[in-house]
Amino acid sequence: MITLVFSGSKGGTGKTTLAVSLAIVSSSVASTLLIDASAEGGATAYLLGDVPPPYLREDPPSSVRRVEGDTLNLFVAVNRGPLANSYLVAENVRKWSQEFMLVIIDLPALTDSDAVDRYLPLILESHSILIVTEPNPASMESALYTFSGKRLVVALNCPRPYPKSVVEHYSKVVASFCKRVNADYVTVPYEPAVSRLSPSTLRVLDYTGSEYDAAIAKLVNLLLRSK
Ligand SMILES: Nc1ncnc2c1ncn2[C@@H]1O[C@H](COP(=O)(O)OP(=O)(O)OP(=O)(O)O)[C@@H](O)[C@H]1O
Ligand SMILES: [Mg+2]
Repeated sequence: MITLVFSGSKGGTGKTTLAVSLAIVSSSVASTLLIDASAEGGATAYLLGDVPPPYLREDPPSSVRRVEGDTLNLFVAVNRGPLANSYLVAENVRKWSQEFMLVIIDLPALTDSDAVDRYLPLILESHSILIVTEPNPASMESALYTFSGKRLVVALNCPRPYPKSVVEHYSKVVASFCKRVNADYVTVPYEPAVSRLSPSTLRVLDYTGSEYDAAIAKLVNLLLRSK
């Protein structure tokens, strides 16, 4: 299963955060690969720490690195910066999809049509799209698209502490979109422990208790169920 994490043209909705959390939780039940295709390499930093720049040259594009940890069956295809050739990455994605139960692709926000063109090979290669949107009109407008032939899951994520009534209002908007296009959605609450994290520390979170963890577990179930 290949899942692309998408937020349309709006950045900062929590794509990288959710992609990394999903990969960590999923890796305890299924072999998981996180492909860091974002511009700034956030997922690579969260999972491998502040890896010095030579890794961009040393790792051939077809290689993946294992993330250390006793119970983690988690690998990362490291970030190659904004010049990554997504046609090349897409070829590898096809190969990796045979080797891993879940392949998650973390994209940057696609702020213009050039960016969409650049990442199109990865969009086409994916079976499912995880749309990450914030509960505000601009984010929703840029993110709530249908993708013909793809399974859609929507994460209504709160990277900031939004008022409960606002989240409830936008949950209804997302629910109605999902009903129309036959998609599922999960509301991911603001989690202060997440916002305090820095590179390499997202995996020290104990994914066993909070509402945030429950939302991530629900998303993992939905994505692993997608066929
Ligand atoms: N549910 C959450 N609770 C608390 N903080 C969150 C949550 N989701 C995201 N954040 C915080 O919001 C900020 C933006 O998140 P993130 O970098 O994952 O967004 P992004 O969509 O990947 O951004 P970009 O478009 O730049 O790639 C980060 O500081 C992150 O810690
Ligand atoms: Mg990101």
